[in-house]
This record gives sequence, C-alpha cells and structure tokens, in this order.
Amino acid sequence: MCGIVGYIGAKECSDILLSGLKNLEYRGYDSAGIAIGTDGGDVQMCRVKGKLNKLYEAYHSDPFDGTIGLGHTRWATHGRPSKTNAHPHRAGRVILAHNGIIENYGEIKSRLVDKGRSFDSQTDTEVLAHLIDQELANGASDLHSATRQALEQVEGSYALVIMTADNPDRLVVARNASPMVIGTSDGDIFAASDIPAVLEYTRDFQFLEDGDTAVLTRDGAEIYDADGEPVERETKHINWDPISAEKQGYKHFMLKEIHEQPARIIDTLRGRVDPEEGDVDLREVDIDPEWLADVDKIVMIACGTSFHACQVAKYAIEQVARVPVEIDLAHEFRYRDPIIDDNTLCVPVSQSGETADTLAAMGEARERGARVLSIVNVIESTMARESDGVLYTHAGPEIGVASTKAFTTQLAAVNMLAVWLGRRRGVLEQDTACEYLKALRQTPNLMEKILNRTDIYEQIARRYSDAESVLYMGRGNQFPIAREGALKLKEISYIHAEGLAAGEMKHGHIALIDEEMPVVVIAPRGGVYDKVFSNLEEAKARQGELIAIATEGDEQIAELADMVVEVPEASDFIQPMLSVVAAQLLAYHVADFKGTDIDQPRNLAKSVTVE
Ligand code: F6R
Repeated sequence: MCGIVGYIGAKECSDILLSGLKNLEYRGYDSAGIAIGTDGGDVQMCRVKGKLNKLYEAYHSDPFDGTIGLGHTRWATHGRPSKTNAHPHRAGRVILAHNGIIENYGEIKSRLVDKGRSFDSQTDTEVLAHLIDQELANGASDLHSATRQALEQVEGSYALVIMTADNPDRLVVARNASPMVIGTSDGDIFAASDIPAVLEYTRDFQFLEDGDTAVLTRDGAEIYDADGEPVERETKHINWDPISAEKQGYKHFMLKEIHEQPARIIDTLRGRVDPEEGDVDLREVDIDPEWLADVDKIVMIACGTSFHACQVAKYAIEQVARVPVEIDLAHEFRYRDPIIDDNTLCVPVSQSGETADTLAAMGEARERGARVLSIVNVIESTMARESDGVLYTHAGPEIGVASTKAFTTQLAAVNMLAVWLGRRRGVLEQDTACEYLKALRQTPNLMEKILNRTDIYEQIARRYSDAESVLYMGRGNQFPIAREGALKLKEISYIHAEGLAAGEMKHGHIALIDEEMPVVVIAPRGGVYDKVFSNLEEAKARQGELIAIATEGDEQIAELADMVVEVPEASDFIQPMLSVVAAQLLAYHVADFKGTDIDQPRNLAKSVTVE
C-alpha cells in the first residue's frame, strides 16, 4: 500500500525519485507525485492522478531538480484517486509523503479547522502536514522535534518522509507499523518503503523499527527510538540483484516471475535439503529444535495466495509429520478467540512480511503463548523481525502484483518443514524422507517442462477469454490449487472464477454448469485421481466445457476433456507446485489475450499494509 522514496545527497535527485517510485509501483498506482528542494531555495511539486507514466509526462513537460526530495505512489484509502489527494501533501512550510492510515484524523482535522487551518484534500495524511507545521509555528526547535510532537497526537500506522521548504539540508523519516528502510552509499542517503526502490544505488540498508524516527542529512542518518533516544540500527548488506527487479525481455513481470520459479526453488532448497541422508537442515531457524519438534499443534495464518500455501501445507505437514495443523485467514483468526497455548507453533506465511492482518494475527497468537516461525520472502520485513524464527523463501523481489514465485517457494518451504518435523518426531522413515526430498529436488526440472509449452495456453485463451465465469475444481492437495488458479484468473483477467473441492460440486455448484461454463479440473494422476475423474464425468454430463490439468499421456482424460494442459508425472508431495504453474500460465495467457494490465490489475496493491 503506497510506496515512498526520499533522497538527500550531492546528486540531482529527480531521476532517483522517479526510478525509485517505478520500482515501488507495485505498492499502489492510482496517483503519484514528487517534491524537490530546488536550487532557488523553494520546494517544487508535481502530482498527477494515474500511473507513473503520467507523472513522468507531467514532470518532463516542466522539469525542475535539486539535491533533496521525496516521492510517493498511492493506493487510495481515504479520498478517491485524484491529483488533489495525491501525495506529497503540503501545509505551510511542511511537505510530506505517507504510507499508512491515521485513524483519528477526523478528530484532529476538526480541531485544526477550528484553529483556522484549511484543507485541500480528503486524505488522512494532510492532517499530519498541518500538525507538524503547527508544531513548528508553536516554537518546536526543529523539524525532528516538531514531527515527534505531532506524532504523539496521532493514532494509526505510518511511514513518513518529511521536508520543509526553508531547509534544504534535512529530511525527517518516521515509522510505525508501515515499513521504512534507510539506504546509504558514499554521501547519498535514501529512505524508502522497500529495498528494490533504491537497489541500483545501494545494497546497504538500515531497517527502522516501530516508533523510530530519523534525521537524514548529507553527513548520514541519525536514528532515534520511540523514546527519542539515539539508537544504532544495524546496517545489513542485501545481496538481491537489481537486475532481478527488471523485466529482462519478458512482456510482463508476472511472466518473468512465472519463468523464474525453477531457479527460485533451487535458491530456496539450497543448503537446506540432503536427499541422501533424508534430512533437512533448519539450523538457521532460531527456535529451540527440541521444543519445535514437540509442539502439540501448528496454527498457520495468512491471506490470499499465501493462505493457499497454508492449505497445501496442512496436507503435507499432517501427512508427513503427523502434527495437527489448523489454518486460518489472518483477518478471521484475529476475531475468533482461537485456542492457543504455549505448546502451539504459529506459522504466518507471507511474501511481503508486511501484511497488516497477518502481522496482527501473529501478535494475537504470540500474546496467547504461541511461538512464531514465519515463512517470509522479504528479508528483515516486520514479520521476519517480530518472529521467534524465520524460514526465508528466497523468491527474490516479486514485482508482479499477482503472486507466483512467492507461492511456489512457500510450498518448497512448507515441504521442508514437514520433512524436518517428521524426522524429528520419529514418524518419518529415512527412506521415505529420501524419496520426498529427491522429489523436491526434481521440482525445478519438472517445472521447466511445463514452462516450455505455450501453444496450449494460447488456444485456451482464444477459446475462453469471453467467458463470464469459470469453475476450478481439485481434490486433496489440489483443492488449494483450484482456489489459487481461480484467484489468479480473477485478479488479472477480471473474469469471475471460483475454486472448489471437486467433491463439493454435487452439493450445489453443479447447478451452474452448462455449455457456457468452462470448468478447469486439476486432475494429475495420484492419490484421489479416480475420484476427480468421476467429478469430471459429472461435469461433462452437464455439457460443461472441460479444461483438464492432467498428467502427460493420460488418454482417459484426453478423451473426455475439451482441452488438456499436460503436467509431468510426479509424486503427490510436489504435484501442487507443478499444477499451479499450469494454472498461472492459463490465467496469464487469458489476461494477455484480453489485454488487461497484468502487472498492475485494477484496485489491487502488492502489499496490503492496512487492515
Ligand atoms: C494474490 C496476492 C495476494 C497476497 C496477499 C498476502 O496474487 O498476491 O492475495 O498473497 O495479499 O500477501 P503477503 O503474502 O505479502 O502477506
């Protein structure tokens, strides 16, 4: 939700701000703006409604530059997308950009209006600019003090970058429940919502903690904790390659990220699995292994695609390690008075590590006594830092708003966790563990086979892109893949889709099936193949148009289905990681045929940092 970038240094910064925003556009893209302290001693702003290309056009039609500035790309929460609601916001001398929500903004606004202040926008953010400006007018010694005094009056979440029109030598930043990093490189100081924003300029980052504020000058960053005391935040060197945040010749980030999956799974397994010994090395997870192996139950929480990974995990962990696994949508978990105790392991799963609902649910579980082992992609994200232990997924930066490689690497991580637990709990024989891990190691090669075929998806796209609605069905650990396939199609093609457990069809959904209704059946050979085949026949008997994701060479299915997408034969343990690639490609090609904005679908944002 919203991306922020700030710069102070020796360079003219318009390109740094604009490219930083481009790298953060996945966080929101309904309006954008920059503010730069110019050599003439004033601050100039450019704001637009719409995506960043509009900001580029507007900026280049009347350019300005300077060595201090800030920028913002927005995902609207309060106030519709418009130029007036776009950030940065200015009140008097104060100019700022904000990510988060000021919950008590209504009350503060009325107070400020009573004091004679007038507002231009409908945003919650503008009250912050006014509050800080008021503190300065009331005699605060400098921008940092004024900011701290203003923040004492607000409730809610924020990442902020702030400057004043009369001081071109200082940026102030603040963080509370919205991410903010500070990057440094040879006299250039950057502030950003996320690492990829400025990865082409620096790899050295400090991660602010909740309640932190910082003063950025050309001499460096001084960080203060929630009590206003100077504090050191460790500088971490990030090894992500800036090139991996670019499209590399693919038409969309999503397609590039789908094709990257074999490599990212290799990265996720590297150094952790030993198929010869039948074991997994999780020494990096900073939780007492004896406690971990002995937990009474596991509670997995997440949202969206990451929740589908939890659903697959339930099958894998219960079968392989015989530990009960409860799964919950994070936003439901928080409000249902869950039964948790100090023998519960809570496993939040998240690409960004910043999803507000998942963070809150994890806090709830911890308060009730659980220990937290998160499965997260973004290094040093809030979730990673607030967990007792972290199993990183190594998917690299995921830019496409629809999640792909984050999901399959999450599945690799839960499979590793399942084998680790199974071995430690004495319920998984070494030979069987060797087989599981060999299968896991083979996954990237098997995925490549799926990625090498494209014509079938193009045919499907031509035939079904006019559909109004599509049903996806699967059973066992393919049921979550039916849901994930449906979510991908909805997100990027705007076609309504629903993913159901195939056995549930006859309990209601079958009423929807007629010759207009494409039905995607995920039916690779394996555990419940025969059952799914029966469901396929039931759908065909109602004249449904059948698209099957099936094992290569399956003639029985080929005879019945109208279209077949083949996936290689593989063990049930890894099969969801293969069939989902077919489902991702299917959704991608339908959306591409329809010409939708695949990397930035309407109304969505990559990282949902508000409740
Ligand atoms: C769908 C998608 C979302 C996210 C969800 C959770 O393609 O990307 O459903 O999976 O918003 O986000 P994370 O994993 O960052 O917690």
